Amino acid sequence: MSETNPIQPDAVDAAVTAALAALAEATTVAELKAVKSAHAGENSAIAQLNSLMRQVPKELKAETGKLLGQARGKIEGAYAGREAELAKAEAAAKLIAETVDVTAAPVRRASGSRHPLAQLQEEIADNFVAMGWEVAEGPELEHEWFNFDALGFDIDHPARAEADTFYVDPVGSHLVMRTHTSPVQIRALLNRELPVYVVAPGRVYRSDELDATHTPVFHQVEGIAIDRGLTMAHLKGTLEHFARQMFGSDAKIRLRPNFFPFTEPSAEMDVWFPGARGGARWIEWGGCGMVDPNVLAAAGIDPEEYQGFAFGVGVERTLQFRNNINDMRDMVEGDARFNAQFGGLV
Ligand code: PHE
Repeated sequence: MSETNPIQPDAVDAAVTAALAALAEATTVAELKAVKSAHAGENSAIAQLNSLMRQVPKELKAETGKLLGQARGKIEGAYAGREAELAKAEAAAKLIAETVDVTAAPVRRASGSRHPLAQLQEEIADNFVAMGWEVAEGPELEHEWFNFDALGFDIDHPARAEADTFYVDPVGSHLVMRTHTSPVQIRALLNRELPVYVVAPGRVYRSDELDATHTPVFHQVEGIAIDRGLTMAHLKGTLEHFARQMFGSDAKIRLRPNFFPFTEPSAEMDVWFPGARGGARWIEWGGCGMVDPNVLAAAGIDPEEYQGFAFGVGVERTLQFRNNINDMRDMVEGDARFNAQFGGLV
């Protein structure tokens, strides 16, 4: 090549070598682009050499142009190759960065648990459903007629006193917070076709102070069965089965004469609980009796044709004995640690 050529092969080689080295060193696609513009862009060494083409003697132009073209080709080729490498490496790194470890332990959040009283009411209802009974509900804000009158409570019966019953304003509305679940007996008889086999768990209210053995809001389960030919034997058999479901297969029932205005005869029901703390013993469990003919008549049922029995047990008492809970307040405070002991996670 002539001495007069301003574009010397050494200079072109040097520009290419520098470009290839810089491209090889780039570690990201973005960096690579910057390197390309520095080594092949407007102000690059190769571009400056190119700008000398005008001064190249005519007879050397073709040869020199070819030399520059090959130089650019090498730089472009190296760029493309490195870009492919870096793009692949970046995609792989991204996949690794976004990997989900399916074996990682999840963050555990303490969940709530159902209240043992709610669970027990459901369990009781299930036992009766298994015998073909239906589950009913009645309002907690109840008319005095359903809570007292229809059940045969005289106007001056002590249970109606304000010392026992929450009356609801306005005075004269005759609304009370129901003091027992027995008004559901009346509602069941009025609303349903005979025969009736209904169990009704629910909340009841009495004006007591909250202490270890009393709570102004508690729960009962009412049962009523009205059919042709039901006797006290059916009552006893049903309650004994119920007692065994609640207190174990050795449990049994004892009935002691009592009085309720809506049953005749009436009885206090005790259950023999073999698992009681401090040894097996009789525990007062609830009230029961044969539904009074006057109650049936008040619901438009002919007592000559249909008879039946009713009972009511305290849910808190049942839980208290079954699970050996001494203080009633544990049941109303809603402490999740108390509830969780009974399982039933939601
Ligand atoms: N309602 C009565 C009470 O609360 C219990 C009971 C229910 C008695 C059904 C007889 C029949 O004490």
